[in-house]
Amino acid sequence: MASSSFSDHYLQLFFSLMALALSVLIFFLIQKRISKKRLNLPPGPRGWPVVGNLFQVARTGKHFFEYIEDFRLIYGPIFTLQLGSRTMIILSGADLIHEALIKRGPAFASRPAENPTRIVFSCNKFSVNAAVYGSLWRSLRRNMVENMLSSSSLKEFHDVRKNAIDNLVERIRADAAANGGAVWVLKNARFAVFCILLAMCFGLEMDEESVEKMDQVLKTVLITVDPRIDDFLPILRPFFSKQRKRAMEVRKEQIEFVVQFINRRKKALQNPGSDIYATSFSYLDTLFDLKVDGRESSPTDAELVTLCSEFLNGGTDTTAAAIEWGIAELITNPNIQNKLHAEIKKTVGDRKVEESDVEKLPYLQAVVKELLRKHPPTYFTLTHSVTEATKLGGYDIPAEANVEVYLAGISRDPEVWKNPEKFDPERFTSGEDDADMTGVKGVKMIPFGVGRRICPGLGMATIHVHVMLARLVQEFEWSSFPPNSKIDFTKKYEFTVVLKNSLRAIARNRA
Ligand code: HEM
Repeated sequence: MASSSFSDHYLQLFFSLMALALSVLIFFLIQKRISKKRLNLPPGPRGWPVVGNLFQVARTGKHFFEYIEDFRLIYGPIFTLQLGSRTMIILSGADLIHEALIKRGPAFASRPAENPTRIVFSCNKFSVNAAVYGSLWRSLRRNMVENMLSSSSLKEFHDVRKNAIDNLVERIRADAAANGGAVWVLKNARFAVFCILLAMCFGLEMDEESVEKMDQVLKTVLITVDPRIDDFLPILRPFFSKQRKRAMEVRKEQIEFVVQFINRRKKALQNPGSDIYATSFSYLDTLFDLKVDGRESSPTDAELVTLCSEFLNGGTDTTAAAIEWGIAELITNPNIQNKLHAEIKKTVGDRKVEESDVEKLPYLQAVVKELLRKHPPTYFTLTHSVTEATKLGGYDIPAEANVEVYLAGISRDPEVWKNPEKFDPERFTSGEDDADMTGVKGVKMIPFGVGRRICPGLGMATIHVHVMLARLVQEFEWSSFPPNSKIDFTKKYEFTVVLKNSLRAIARNRA
């Protein structure tokens, strides 16, 4: 009797609490709707209740950037999309981007809340790219830039780059010899950049099998953290428990695999000379004892895995995509390829192009600028958010909104560029056009983003693109495969924007 009244009492309490929670939830949802209605958000397509524009985007069958391209023509340089519970403010106008990211940089320099899967993979936002704007981000970014990506640190890895680019040339030569001259461009360029970043990151030499496995592990991670429908409609989360379980397995596999190399590096440091291939310095070394954000402890193994993965992911697909677009344009424009080759031959002669030659090769610099203008490897910066609710262009930008910067829009804007669709390096050599990629003097092309969150790898990435492209043109004459076919410039998004039909081209040894 006593126990039944006890459970009745609990049942009553339970239902009262449920009713209270439900009322609070309904109250907050109504409040949120009312306050959103009061906001003067940038214009945008009308959406449906709850899902907003989510299914409109999905139904078009277009890629997200194509959809954005259509909408910016209708709504202009700033517009809103409501994707489920997520409010996205899309910026695509040069002036507004300059105002947000340069003039009012700190206000727009944060990152939005992450979904639960990303929180796990980023170790609760313990990485340069995911950290909110604040002291943790500052410490992690300063460490990466000052210890690895500054021009003096980059000099330390000159030989690593040289070896990887020599190997790239030899792989292409061997591939071409074995396949009637035809080679896969993206795959080979990707492998070369990945090897450079691996050596910088772990300070170890890896056999080809480990390189391939690392690549596969990191690719699986990228696929796993790709947005899912329940990221936009959290109410659907209970239906995605299988995916969440799989994501946790992927994280476990990532940690187990990468930690082996972390431990190998630790051993090499503890017993100098024990690993003859270990470099004198690596990114990992800068992280072992890193004290950030007033924390007493050093990063955990899981945090080290997150930071190393970010270093490897940031520069691999982006750089390789630039090389693929570059070779595609040089094949399509043989006069430009010839002119570039002539400049290299005249300036460098018969020895291999060196990094120090780049400043003496103005046409090469123009080709690379034009390549990054017309084919920015990513069409958006990473998602920004504001540190507190603010206004831009006269509209409200709520604190929880995702601010998406569509950088491809600027480099193709006919109001900013003459003949934007033409691949024309001469625009930079004739003095007709110039572009400061840091955006400080004005935003015209920003393949690395601009402002506080500008890509910290800009310097290294531009060295890679210049030297790889120069060596590939110095060693080989590039033409289409099958011979005399036209290159199909249709694109697809695969972490970066690449050719839909991966480029296979003829690489003929130059005499
Ligand atoms: C051609 C090659 C590259 C391109 C086109 C590129 C482009 C970008 C872009 C557009 C952003 C987003 C900026 C923003 O959110 O406003 C970014 C951020 C970032 N990139 Fe790169 N990147 C390249 C190479 C690299 C390399 C080589 C590394 C380092 C090894 C790197 C590491 C990063 C990191 C850590 C961030 C996050 C910065 C932050 O949030 O503070 N990237 N990159």
